[in-house]
Amino acid sequence: MTSGNLLTDNPELYEARFPDPERLAGRWAEDCLRRYGAGPRVLDLGCGTGRDAAQLHASGRTVVGADLSEAMLAYARDRHPGPEYVHADLRDFALGVFNAVVCLDSSLLYCHTNDDLDGFLASCRRSLTPGGLLVAEMRNGAYFLGRDDLLNTPKVNAFDWQGTSYRSTTTLYVDRTAQLLRRTRVWTADDDSAPVEQRSAWRLLLPLELRHFLTSHGFTVLALHDGPGPRTEPPWQEGDLPGTAAEADRLHVVARLDA
Ligand SMILES: C[S@@+](CC[C@H](N)C(=O)[O-])C[C@H]1O[C@@H](n2cnc3c(N)ncnc32)[C@H](O)[C@@H]1O
Repeated sequence: MTSGNLLTDNPELYEARFPDPERLAGRWAEDCLRRYGAGPRVLDLGCGTGRDAAQLHASGRTVVGADLSEAMLAYARDRHPGPEYVHADLRDFALGVFNAVVCLDSSLLYCHTNDDLDGFLASCRRSLTPGGLLVAEMRNGAYFLGRDDLLNTPKVNAFDWQGTSYRSTTTLYVDRTAQLLRRTRVWTADDDSAPVEQRSAWRLLLPLELRHFLTSHGFTVLALHDGPGPRTEPPWQEGDLPGTAAEADRLHVVARLDA
């Protein structure tokens, strides 16, 4: 058994497992930036493979993509050129001055503690021009209040990649004390390698709690809703307006730094 993360250590596999051929996430982010009049300089935090950063770059933005994973950054530089890609921790960063920060696919929820969230928002505040925007998209902690359809039951997934058959068994559970959604995932492969167990966790952030963090750090919340967005069902399409409920499993937020 080894550590590491098969998906984030293999960005190509990550894109194959979570395809976004229409670049919906990047297009949705660009729609938010335009709707609320953001300037051109954008920081994509937790940029992963760089596909969203590159989509924003293709929309005419000057983009910096930041991530903790060197494997992701190397892949992004090679496969999604245009933005500048840098190593940074979203919980405490200083990468220059931007008109907007975007944080997609639950990257913000790697802020596990309140101190992490304060560090993230203080860094955003230092990095944004007055009136700058924060656009984020993530799991909705409120979804898990009274629902356990995604929890506690192992889900098996099998796929072939580069000549090897992989099988993952994933279980999600709620750690109420830490207010985290925890995931254990066990990988097996038909290449005689030993099983690999990986553990991840995301903050279970409630919509009104997020609103409170944002206002405490000098932001005005412009939109906070469960969809439509790039990972909702049905998915967001060009021309869709932001919703008003915060009930379903994805949460979308746009907030403006007070001048
Ligand atoms: C689920 S991926 C999202 C990637 C990309 N935003 C997307 O939507 O395709 C989360 C990314 O956050 C990165 N990450 C995790 N913790 C981080 C941290 N503390 N600071 C910066 N990046 C982090 C991971 O390396 C990974 O690339």
